[in-house]
Amino acid sequence: MDLLRALPLVFLAKCVLSSPMVLHESISHVPLGFKASGSPPPTQDIKLFIALVQSNITELAKVVEAVSIPSSSSYGQYLTAAEVAQYIKPPADSVSTVMDWITPNVASVKPFSPAGDILQISLTVAQADGLFNTKFSTYTHSASGQEMVRALNYSLPSTVQQHILHVHPIIAFTRPPQRASRNTAYKRTAPDRRQLAPLCLQEFYGIPNTTISGSLTNSIGVQGYNSPSLGEYANHDDLATFLNEFRPDIAGNTFSVTLLNGAQNLQDNSGGLEGQIDIQYTVGVAGNVPTTYLLDVENTDPAVSYMDTINWLLSQEDPPTVFTTSYVNEEAEFTQSSATSVCNGYMQLAAIGISMIFSSGDGGASDNEEGCTSFVPMFPATCPYVTSVGGTFFQPPTAFSGSAGGFSNYFPVPSYQAADTSGYLQSIGDANSGFYNPNGRGFPDVASEWEVFIVNEGGVTSVGGTSCASPIFASFIALVNDRLIAAGKPVLGFLNPLLYSTGKGGLDDVTLGQSFGCSGAGSGWNAATGWDPISGLGTPDFPGMMKALGI
Ligand SMILES: *[C@@H]1O[C@H](CO)[C@@H](O)[C@H](O)[C@H]1NC(C)=O
Ligand SMILES: *[C@@H]1O[C@H](CO)[C@@H](O)[C@H](O)[C@H]1NC(C)=O
Ligand SMILES: *[C@@H]1O[C@H](CO)[C@@H](O)[C@H](O)[C@H]1NC(C)=O
Repeated sequence: MDLLRALPLVFLAKCVLSSPMVLHESISHVPLGFKASGSPPPTQDIKLFIALVQSNITELAKVVEAVSIPSSSSYGQYLTAAEVAQYIKPPADSVSTVMDWITPNVASVKPFSPAGDILQISLTVAQADGLFNTKFSTYTHSASGQEMVRALNYSLPSTVQQHILHVHPIIAFTRPPQRASRNTAYKRTAPDRRQLAPLCLQEFYGIPNTTISGSLTNSIGVQGYNSPSLGEYANHDDLATFLNEFRPDIAGNTFSVTLLNGAQNLQDNSGGLEGQIDIQYTVGVAGNVPTTYLLDVENTDPAVSYMDTINWLLSQEDPPTVFTTSYVNEEAEFTQSSATSVCNGYMQLAAIGISMIFSSGDGGASDNEEGCTSFVPMFPATCPYVTSVGGTFFQPPTAFSGSAGGFSNYFPVPSYQAADTSGYLQSIGDANSGFYNPNGRGFPDVASEWEVFIVNEGGVTSVGGTSCASPIFASFIALVNDRLIAAGKPVLGFLNPLLYSTGKGGLDDVTLGQSFGCSGAGSGWNAATGWDPISGLGTPDFPGMMKALGI
């Protein structure tokens, strides 16, 4: 890696920059829910990420359009991760300028991302105070008791500033990713158990029961996070019981596990439901598509959790073609600069042809807040390079009141959806005016069933949430990819430019339902004809998608 080769030179550099310090980012007050709780010891170690300018990110955005817009002549001609890195790696003079400045002042520095655009530094609080001309303090998140070392602003030397996008997480007051799942009240009492099981999804969405291509590289990746507090595991015995009960035709199918940062997929039934849902509704729906459970430890900083996965996907020889994540955060928990860094990571995955699918969240328009004065968008769902999935239920298809949706405060509306979101906004007139950013990226993009049966601790239980919707939608796409591969065509990659154009034929519009908003039930959004911020463009229609794709 260029960066590592540059290191010895840096140690020889005598020059100590003494240019004036310039304020780079600041917040005016400690965010709601956190309070200052003292000064950390000056010798305490902290880790920070420095995001360097990327040499050609605007050009990479054009490449993503070229490979994802169905009418483009290079549709489906994805780049390799090595090619993507050429657009992302920082210019050489940025690397040397930043290294000259930080190396004498930190305990260690190493590249964090494969392209070297993100550096991870380790330093003491005293060093950080000096390097960034600020005062780090300890802050406590009142609800969870979680402590973090942060500052309200930081500065950079004027000669260095142009080479750095941002340093994270100095001013980012973060909570770990929240699982988008909740256990609904019903337990084993529904009249027909099969009603909410894979067979039902196969019937309603026309999803076939197995693959035909024989491809082993068309695989699904499933995100998991765990820790003692967020104990999430995928249990092999429960999956076997689930398949025996609901998918006897693929009984015996299983999943592989990849563990990051010392995570463990415990099998002692002590976990929550998220891992169970996500594995049972990928292995159990995408019949015979190889499935990998990527389990990472919970990080107190969600940007790091999301970046771990981006880095992992960029470093795989054959990464999954579809990747589903049922975890979300409020967009405002990220600074705009850190959300943009993570979203640019998803842009890179779009360039290499991975469909990144996220649940939209379960709190409706307001993240379940009542009495709020503005709606609450959710991230990563608002990143324009991912496909976010809201929730609906049968029958007739109706949007789930908790289905999170709305408009980003950070990301402007992308061209692929502008006609659809403005059509919806025109149709509602002044409703909800002042509660959302009418120029923001609209989400969710699509929807699917939010309530299903799973097997947990050996027994059948019903669960609900967009947690269920994301793996179901991912399974639909993985089987569409299977048919494309069998027809000698490339997989779908980044889905949205297709879904908002010719791919609309592969989705069934949902026009009933209302979401939760700042004054309670029904005060969020209404489902409507065409795209809406509760059910997106609608639910899977496999035969319709085959027709739309000409296969
Ligand atoms: C960015 O990409 C364009 C088009 O490929 C190329 O002409 C230009 O040299 C690149 N710039 C950098 C800094 O790599
Ligand atoms: C930076 O934050 C400190 C408190 O940590 C405050 O005293 C100072 O005024 C802030 N400076 C700027 C320029 O915002
Ligand atoms: C697979 O699906 C078809 C309908 O497309 C159905 O007729 C058939 O019975 C299914 N096979 C199994 C083993 O469930």
